[in-house]
Amino acid sequence: MAYPKRVKLVDVGPRDGLQNEAQPVSAGVKIELVHRLQNAGLKDIEVTSYVSRKWMPQMADNSQVMCGIRRAPGVRYSVLAPNMKGLEAALAAERPKWPDEIVVFGSASETFSHKNINCSIAESIERFAPVVAAARENGIHVRGAMSCAVGCPYEGDIVPDAVGRLARTMKDIGVQHVGVADTIGVGTPGRVQRALEAVLATYAIDDVSGHFHDTYGLALSNVLASMELGIWQFDTSVAGLGGCPCAKGATGNVATEDVVYTLQSVGVETGIDLDKLIDAGVYISHALGREPNSRASRALRVKRVSAGLCH
Ligand code: HMG
Ligand code: MG
Repeated sequence: MAYPKRVKLVDVGPRDGLQNEAQPVSAGVKIELVHRLQNAGLKDIEVTSYVSRKWMPQMADNSQVMCGIRRAPGVRYSVLAPNMKGLEAALAAERPKWPDEIVVFGSASETFSHKNINCSIAESIERFAPVVAAARENGIHVRGAMSCAVGCPYEGDIVPDAVGRLARTMKDIGVQHVGVADTIGVGTPGRVQRALEAVLATYAIDDVSGHFHDTYGLALSNVLASMELGIWQFDTSVAGLGGCPCAKGATGNVATEDVVYTLQSVGVETGIDLDKLIDAGVYISHALGREPNSRASRALRVKRVSAGLCH
C-alpha cells in the first residue's frame, strides 16, 4: 500500500519529553520550547499534564505554562487530564487559555494502569467518562492515549484483544480519537500493526494515531509500518525526549526530527521546517545539558558545520 501523502505530527516533547526529567526545568524554558515548535510549523503540541504534583513534580507548573504560551493561529494545544480534578484545573483559567484538546490516558495492561494512574482499567473508564462528557460539552476535543498496547513492563506481551476491548470502552464513553502507545518501545512492525488493527475495528482511520517510544530503535520502522495501514497521525518528541517514570527502562519517543527527515525523504508532506525543528531540539537539549537524541539532527548539524553555516 502507498503511504499517505501527508502526515500530521503531534509534538509531545513539552509533556512526555519533560515529565521524566529529574532536574528542574523552568516554565520559561518550557514556554520557549512550545514557541520554537510552533515556529517550526508544528500544528499540534502536547504542552503539559494536569496530574498529581506528587506523582509528576515536573508538570506542577502546568497552569503557568499554559497561561504563558503566546498562541499561534491554527495550532492545537493539548494537555493530559486523567480525572475531573485535572479537567477543572485545566479549565480554571480564562477561556482563551484553555487547551484545545484533552487527553485521557488509559492502559491495555491492568498492572500498568495501577502503577500509572492508581486504578484498574474499569475504574479508569469510570473516571474518564465525566471528563470526556464535560470536555466535549465545552467544545474541547478528546483523545484517549492507550498505554502498553504492545507490551507492558510488568505483564510482558499484551494481546490485541485487550487493545480492542479498551478501544471499545473508550468509544462507548465518547473518546473521539485513540492514540496507540508502545510505552516501553518493544513493538515490532507486525505487532504494532496488529494493535492498530484491533483499534481500527472500532475507530475510523482518521481517528487513530501512533505513539512509539524508541527503546530498541524500532520506533521509526513502526511509524512506517503504521503508514502502510493508512495511519497518518503520530506523536513524536523533539530531540527524542521522553519516558514515563512508571515504565522503568523505557526511553524517549521517536525523535520528531528523525520522523520529519524520513518522511521528507520518501516524499511525504509534514509542513514542518526541519532546520527550525533541529534548532528547537538543540535549544531544549542544551537547556538540559545534553545533545539531541536524534540521528538526523546530529548528521544535519555536522553537514551545516562543514558547509560553514554555523559553528
Ligand atoms: P490517586 O492518588 O489515585 O488520586 O492518583 P486521588 O484522587 O486519591 O488523589 C490523591 C492526591 O492527588 C490528592 O492530593 C488529590 O488532590 C491529588 P492530596 O490530598 O494527597 O494532597 N490529585 C490531583 N492533583 C492534581 N491534578 C489532578 C489530581 N488528581 C488527584 N488531576 C492520579 C490518581 C491519576 C491523579 C495519579 O495517579 C497521577 O497523577 N498519576 C500521574 C500519571 C502520569 O502523569 N503518568 C505519565 C503520563 S501517561 C504517559 O506518559 C503515557 C503516554 O505517554 C502514552 C504511553 O507512552 O504509553 C500518554
Ligand atoms: Mg509516552
